[in-house]
Amino acid sequence: MNQEFNITVLPGDGIGPEVIREAVKILKIVESKKNLKLNLTEAPVGGAGYEAAGHPLPEDTLKAAQSADAVLLGAVGGPQWEKIDFSLRPERALLGLRSNLGLFANLRPAKIFAPLADASTLKPEVVEGLDIMVVRELTGGIYFGEPRGVETLPDGTRKGVNTLVYTEPEIERIAKVAFDVAGKRDKNVCSVDKANVLECTGLWREVVTQTHEEYKDITLSHMYVDNCAMQLVRNPKQFDVIVTTNMFGDILSDQASMLTGSIGMLPSASLGGKTAMYEPIHGSAPDIAGKDIANPLATILSVGMMFKYSFNLEYVTTVLEKVVDDILGQGYRTKDILSDGGKEVGCAAMGDRVAEELEKQLG
Ligand code: IPM
Ligand code: MG
Repeated sequence: MNQEFNITVLPGDGIGPEVIREAVKILKIVESKKNLKLNLTEAPVGGAGYEAAGHPLPEDTLKAAQSADAVLLGAVGGPQWEKIDFSLRPERALLGLRSNLGLFANLRPAKIFAPLADASTLKPEVVEGLDIMVVRELTGGIYFGEPRGVETLPDGTRKGVNTLVYTEPEIERIAKVAFDVAGKRDKNVCSVDKANVLECTGLWREVVTQTHEEYKDITLSHMYVDNCAMQLVRNPKQFDVIVTTNMFGDILSDQASMLTGSIGMLPSASLGGKTAMYEPIHGSAPDIAGKDIANPLATILSVGMMFKYSFNLEYVTTVLEKVVDDILGQGYRTKDILSDGGKEVGCAAMGDRVAEELEKQLG
C-alpha cells in the first residue's frame, strides 16, 4: 500500500508564498518517485490570515495544522501589519502554532555546503566543514513568560515588562532532545546560558548538568551567551550541538546561519508534539517579495527535514541534501549567495534546478 501523509501548507506573507511554491515542487517529485500519497492542504496564516479571517492564526488554520501529519510554513509578517494591535500581529501566529502544537524543540542545523565556503563573510578556512545543530527551546522562556505587556504608571510614564521563566521539566525535556541529537552526531553538547546574571538560566545550567548524568557518552560544556556569540565567529567549528533558551536560540541561530553563507540556506524542524512543523529560519523579507529573487533552498531543505523527522524516510533527506550540494557545485546561485563566477538564477529557476536533479537522483 502507498504510504499516505497529510501536509498542511501555510505560505504566509512576503517571500513565504514564493519559497513555498518551490518546496511544493519538491514534494510532488518525491510523491511520484517514491509512490507516496501526499495530501496538501493550504491555509492562510500571519498577515494573510489577518486579511482572510481577521486573525493571524484563524481557527480553521490551527485545526488544519493540528490534524495534519506535518506542517510546512513559509514566513509571516510585513510592514503593513506593524501598526495593528500586538495580539493580532502576524508573528503571533507563529507563536500560537508552536505552543498549540506543543513544539518545544526547534532544531536549526547550520551546515555549510562545500561550494558555498566562499559565500560566507568569514574566511573559508574558518567555516569549511562547519556542521552545527542549534537546539532552541521554543515554547517557553521570555517569549511566553508572564507577566508581560506595557502599562502606564501613575506618573503617566509607561513601563514595559517581559518575564524569563523556565521550569525544571521544561529544561529537562529540551536537554534530553539535545543529548539525543548529539548521540547521533559528534556527541558534544554546549549549553548556552547567562548563569552569571540571570537566576533562571542558573537553574537551566543546573538541570542540564543533572540531565546529563543519564548520557555518559556525551560531552557537556557550558558557555555564557555573550562568549558563544563571539566563539561563533572566532572558531565556529568547536561546536557540535548548541542547546539554549528560546530567545538566545533565536539570536544565535541567525548568527550561525551567516556562517553558512546566507540566512536563505537554513531550514528548521520544530518537534515535540504529535504534528511537527518545518520552516525556513528566515523571515518574510518584504523588501524582496514578489521579485523572484528569494532563495528557496532553506524551505526546500525544511521539506528534507520533514521526510526525516515526520515520515521516517531519511533516505529522501540525504538525497535532497546531496542534490542541493550538486546544484550549488554546478554554480547556480540566488542573489544572496552569489559570488564571482556564479550563475545567477531566480527563486523559481532554483526550485526547477533542484526538482530536475532530484527527479534524476531519487531512485
Ligand atoms: C524565528 C523568527 C520568529 C521568532 C519571529 C518571526 C516570531 O525570528 O523563527 O526565528 O522570533 O521565533
Ligand atoms: Mg529568528
